Amino acid sequence: MLLVATNISSYKLGNELLDKEHEMFFFLTNYLKMAALSGKTHQMQINIAHEIQKYVQFHFFSEENYMEEIGFPNLQEHCALHTILLTDLGERIYKLVSNQLNCKELVLFLDECFLHHTLQEDSKIINYQLQLQLY
Ligand SMILES: [Fe+2]
Repeated sequence: MLLVATNISSYKLGNELLDKEHEMFFFLTNYLKMAALSGKTHQMQINIAHEIQKYVQFHFFSEENYMEEIGFPNLQEHCALHTILLTDLGERIYKLVSNQLNCKELVLFLDECFLHHTLQEDSKIINYQLQLQLY
């Protein structure tokens, strides 16, 4: 079963920049899900997976700049999590290309790992930002 969030609003953190970028990520992940369900060619699925990979690289860079801008104290730890996620994603895309992983499995990974990161880790950035606004 594919679990990609259809109700993106439930993943909003309350920060316009990060929410818009997460929304684009969900859109692209949903696009990959649709490619898997509608029987798009393997090459097309690979192309979309690479599109997601490049978007995630951009998004993480953008998020890291934002954390630095607000002086987020756990910047290095958060960046390390981004590196792990990008490495995992790269390995899975390699497996998709070499037919060791199917598109639905990649969507599940994107859904579970990245949604977990958004809710558990990115929310800490927003909580820190909110604390700053209290003072
Ligand atoms: Fe993050």
